[in-house]
Amino acid sequence: MAAKKLNVYERIDILLDKGSFVEVDKYVKHHCTNFGMENKKVPGDGVVCGYGKIDGRLVFVYGFDFSVLGGSLSAANAAKIAKMQDAALRNGAPIISLNDSGGARIQEGIESLTGFAHIFYRNVQASGVIPQISAIMGPCAGGSCYSPALTDFILMVKEESQMFITGPNVVKQVTNEECDKETLGGADIHSTQSGVANFICESDEECLMTIRELLGFLPSNNMEDAPIHPATDELTRTCHELDNIVPTDPNLPYDIKDIIEPICDHQYFFEIQPNYAKNIVIGFGRMAGRTVGFVANQPNFLAGAIDIDASDKAARFIRFCDCFNIPLVAIEDVPGFLPGIKQEHGGIIRHGAKIVYAFAEATVPKVTLITRKAYGGAYIVMNSKQTGADVNLAYPTAEIAVMGAKGAVSILYRKETPEQQEQRIKEYEEKFANPYCAAELGYIDDIIQPADTRKAIIQALESCRNKNQSNPPKKHGNMPV
Ligand code: HXC
Repeated sequence: MAAKKLNVYERIDILLDKGSFVEVDKYVKHHCTNFGMENKKVPGDGVVCGYGKIDGRLVFVYGFDFSVLGGSLSAANAAKIAKMQDAALRNGAPIISLNDSGGARIQEGIESLTGFAHIFYRNVQASGVIPQISAIMGPCAGGSCYSPALTDFILMVKEESQMFITGPNVVKQVTNEECDKETLGGADIHSTQSGVANFICESDEECLMTIRELLGFLPSNNMEDAPIHPATDELTRTCHELDNIVPTDPNLPYDIKDIIEPICDHQYFFEIQPNYAKNIVIGFGRMAGRTVGFVANQPNFLAGAIDIDASDKAARFIRFCDCFNIPLVAIEDVPGFLPGIKQEHGGIIRHGAKIVYAFAEATVPKVTLITRKAYGGAYIVMNSKQTGADVNLAYPTAEIAVMGAKGAVSILYRKETPEQQEQRIKEYEEKFANPYCAAELGYIDDIIQPADTRKAIIQALESCRNKNQSNPPKKHGNMPV
């Protein structure tokens, strides 16, 4: 049973600090006279715009009222939204949209369509300058999906919200496929399969509170640092719970979050997109009171191999962190890129290249911890020293090699007997199934005990906090997309 759907004012009330909302343009009406629209005018025209505070910090907000012509976008309310976007950008404050809208108002034709063009343009101009967050809180079609898609984070409310370019009726007409709103673009689909949504929430309240929490990890704009919390968790806290997390058998899985959580301040990790591409984990934590973006392979899912979806998920998050001055910590246990015809034909070459591009391009402090496997190209792309990481650390259990011992022997010594191959595997393991080879060459800065992980990563981040690096001057790079 879906939780109660709130109206747009109730939503804004929960989102913002109590009493801080100031509404703008509440008297604006549309000016359409097609199809009897002159008789369907309401003050505000179905979009509520304004500004207020979250945890005392300025934010701009706009929300659609589905009860007014399906929350459809008129030229008049597009102008209201553009005004908020301009103000947010001018003032370096995040902007939040609460979407509940059937898209461009059909009765207005090109006027409402161009309204979305104005909004999209501003979404792009603001990208990387101020955080843009989109909540999907009802059925959203057309431009009401594409504007969110241009923003940094999308949250959806379970069973209450959907996103699609065209609704089920049009789908039926064009492709003869039968579907309903939920199967076409419900929160479950977008948070597990399409990767469009970053968060799935049980209710309006949870969605709005999640936005508040998310913003707490972010700076208001790209010229600021994220808010610093008092460092009340001991910086040198030893984490003996990490001593036995990584299994000695390289074929056994474990949950990488069992490493991330204990090392964060107060053991709190705020995961993003937990149900999509589970082979990579992304999210925010705080270390020494400061926001850190974690990107970690997940041995519990597909052995942590990097596939197309994981590449997309990680690259976008890395770039977000870099836009907003958030240091990156990569935690690595990766057997390689996921092999297979489906992956190759789907373009794993093009998609996988995004991770290396994103890490190499990022100029924020970058730290890597290798817990176990660091094989092949995946070793390189997961924030290796040679692609620009500041500090690379490894556990004694780390294995840094072109591939695992069995795979290597099956290629190099495939003509030998099983007994000979066993011997070769042992030799290979002795040579490469450890971090010392890489450490001798300076590719690993230090080999640390798991219990010291928190302390070592905080020290590593501290060592590059004042890093001042920029890439060669250019208009912009040409990242593979
Ligand atoms: C005008 C609209 C509207 C729209 C809905 N309504 N969408 N009015 N323009 N775009 C009106 C309906 O006529 C109805 O009015 C009321 O809102 C509620 O809609 P329902 O269909 O009864 O609601 P529901 O069954 O929940 O379905 C919601 C919906 C569906 C799936 C969003 O309304 C729908 O498919 N709408 C059209 C979606 C669409 O194709 N939009 C244009 C996209 S083009 P009454 O008076 O009956 O209550 C676009 C341009 C940018 O946005 C594209 C960029 C890629």
